[in-house]
Parts: sequence; structure tokens; C-alpha cells
Amino acid sequence: MHPMLTIAVKAARRAGNIINRSSFDLDKLTVQHKNHNDFVSEVDRAAEDAIIDILLEAYPKHQILAEESGARGDSEYQWIIDPLDGTTNFLHGFPQYAVSIALLHKGVLNQAVIYDPAHNDLFTASKGGGAFLNDRRLRVSKEKYLKNALVGTGFPYTDFSHLDAYMGMFRDVIQKTAGLRRPGSAALDLAYVAAGRLDGFFEIGLKPWDIAAGCLLIQESGGLVGDFRGNETYLDSGNIVAGNPKIFSQLLQTLAPHLTGSL
Ligand code: IPD
Ligand code: CA
Ligand code: CA
Repeated sequence: MHPMLTIAVKAARRAGNIINRSSFDLDKLTVQHKNHNDFVSEVDRAAEDAIIDILLEAYPKHQILAEESGARGDSEYQWIIDPLDGTTNFLHGFPQYAVSIALLHKGVLNQAVIYDPAHNDLFTASKGGGAFLNDRRLRVSKEKYLKNALVGTGFPYTDFSHLDAYMGMFRDVIQKTAGLRRPGSAALDLAYVAAGRLDGFFEIGLKPWDIAAGCLLIQESGGLVGDFRGNETYLDSGNIVAGNPKIFSQLLQTLAPHLTGSL
């Protein structure tokens, strides 16, 4: 394993332990409102602090971009961290959430870890080195037809500016696929595409920490990731479509009629 990935795995497991311990005492947590329907708990912050401590102990000069504490440092290496992706699920005891850590080198995705502490699933990828679930090499699914595909998504729930466009996409996708799922953690949804558990995924307006690690996992397992036009702006725009190559292109075609100017 690449030494930087080993450090990231250590950080993700440490954060996962914090999350697992707290999951037994959810009613004791202090929860704050960031925005409408957007919550943060002391667990998000404790997990993030633990991750950053481990990364900076090993690489004191590296740059950090983390959901709860923002950006710091200046280096050609940047760690992008979501300490707890799926906070709403976590707060309800719904066991679908994950720690997500990615490393960019000169702006290019280089290492990725997504750790699901409730199921002890560790997803990892290194650029050019493939993607793994625990010790097993990952490949995206072989499904050829959208009508047979299981697709993941995230519904808008804090920012409703693209709700009409989203509802149009929803209407078409539920009619043209075998099923649409909203599990509640974008990072894990992308890891599931890499693992072939989902054939495709789309969501509007995600943040870099939701998707950076998942994108590398998908690319390293033979899948494709793009924005709604199939281009490479997804890390900045957060508008993302992913899938095995066949489902990716059929999803793009299905979503295309619903694209308004800013999508
Ligand atoms: C959220 C989850 C969710 C997605 C949201 C994200 P958080 O992350 O990934 O699936 O639909 O857009 O913000 O807030 O739980 O870290
Ligand atoms: Ca997130
Ligand atoms: Ca989060």
C-alpha cells in the first residue's frame, strides 16, 4: 500500500472508532444547525480533528480542506476530508454513513479512502493501482442496459434552487431503471458504484469532500465520472454523474433534457 494511503487508512479508522463509540449514545449528542436541514454534531468535529492530527503528524506541510474546519496550509499535496458523510443518517441511527479522505497531488486525485464504520467496509484506491474493498479488488458492474440498472442518487434537502430540474430527472430515471435509491451518504454511494453494488449515480450540488475519494475509487475500478454534460468540472461544481461506462452514457442521455443553464 502507498505510504500516504496507509496514513489515510489509519486516520479513517480512528475517525470510524469515534463514530462507532458515539453511535451507542445518540441521545447524548450535542447537535447544531448549520443551515436548514444541515446538522453538525460533536462527533463530526471530533472525527475531523482526529483525522487532521494523524495526517499532519505524518505530513506537517500538507494542505487540508475539511468540511467542518475549512482550508489550511499551502502545498502541492491537499487532503480533502469529510469526517462523517451521512450525518442525518448517523443522528437517526440509520447505519449508512462513512468517513471520506482523498489526497490530491497538483490538483489530481492520487489516493482515496472511504470507511464505513457500521459495516467495517474499507474502500481504498491509489491512482494507477486499482481500487479495493478490504482486500478484494473492485470492478464496476457489467450491466449494459439502463432498464436493468440500480441507480443511486441524493435528493435536494437544504438547497432547493434546482428542485424542478431534479424532479424532472427523478421522473425519468424511476421510469427507465430497475430502481432508484437514496441511501444518504454520497461518498458511500460512489464507493458502491466502484464495487458494482450500484450501476450508476447522480446528484446536484455536492461538495468536494463528498465526492473526491469516491471519484478516484470509480475511476480505478473501470467506471466513469463526469458533470451533467460529461465534462470534468464535477469536483468544483458538485454536479455529478457516475457509473460503469455503459450506464454512465445512458444516464447522461436521460438527464440531458432537464439541464438548465447552470447545471
Ligand atoms: C451529505 C450526504 C448526502 C448528500 C448531501 C451531503 P453530510 O453529506 O453526502 O448523501 O445528499 O448533499 O451534504 O452533510 O452528511 O456530510
Ligand atoms: Ca458530506
Ligand atoms: Ca459531513
